[in-house]
Amino acid sequence: MSAPAHPDSTDLDRLHSAVKREKEDLAPESQPAPLGAIFLLFLVAIIAGSQLGPMTGGWTFEVSNPFSLAKGGDPRPTKEGEGGAADPFAKAMKKGAAGYAVCGGCHQGNGGGLPGQFPPLDGSEYVLGGTERLIRIVQHGLTGPVTVKGQGFNTPGGMQAFGATMSSEDLANVLTFVRNTWSNKGSMITKEMVAKVREEEKRSTQWTAPELEPFAKKDVPGEVPGAAAAPAAK
Ligand code: HEC
Repeated sequence: MSAPAHPDSTDLDRLHSAVKREKEDLAPESQPAPLGAIFLLFLVAIIAGSQLGPMTGGWTFEVSNPFSLAKGGDPRPTKEGEGGAADPFAKAMKKGAAGYAVCGGCHQGNGGGLPGQFPPLDGSEYVLGGTERLIRIVQHGLTGPVTVKGQGFNTPGGMQAFGATMSSEDLANVLTFVRNTWSNKGSMITKEMVAKVREEEKRSTQWTAPELEPFAKKDVPGEVPGAAAAPAAK
């Protein structure tokens, strides 16, 4: 083929092929909707929408808004709630409550004990006194006469030792629980404190109340985790 006669003819070819690519107009007689009609439709929609609220018994967006802060507050867990769950004291109390099942059979669920048989833990000077005496009691048991809240007890066989069957952590949790349940309010006992007494205390027999007198007011030293963040500080 020879070169095009006119320099524009290539542009014309390209233009025509572009036009030929276009789809056929299937309805050449239809017209776009008049702007006035579209405007009128919008107006009707806006007025109708504004009537929705008053005419549906006071429906507002807030009624079905799951994130509404207006009523009942945000249902999602708060920072405070998360902190509570992670708080070492709250955790120890929860585990200790479950562990107390071991003690509850004798000392009762309400910590009141049974007259003449099992001494009470609620309000007991042995529970609320020095943590060292309390740890020693559960570790190796107690036998012989004991006076708790003015009542004398001397149950044959006394109380067994729990040091061999319960870990330092289990004992710490149960003791934290009994020191902070019913009317009791006391410091937390950690597994490190129990372990410390366990290491120092070498004996194979149950304690007697008089033997423990020197530890009556003695607290096992040790840090209480998260003490600064504990909600109990209130
Ligand atoms: C089988 C019954 C029994 C079980 C189980 C038992 N205890 Fe005791 N507990 C006794 C008896 C009986 C005494 C009194 C011993 C005595 O007469 O010297 C006592 C005394 C005590 C005392 C000192 C007195 C007082 O009331 O404060 C404490 C503290 C104590 N128990 C805590 C516990 C804890 C904590 C547990 C669970 C880990 C537990 N006991 C499980 C029977 C039991």
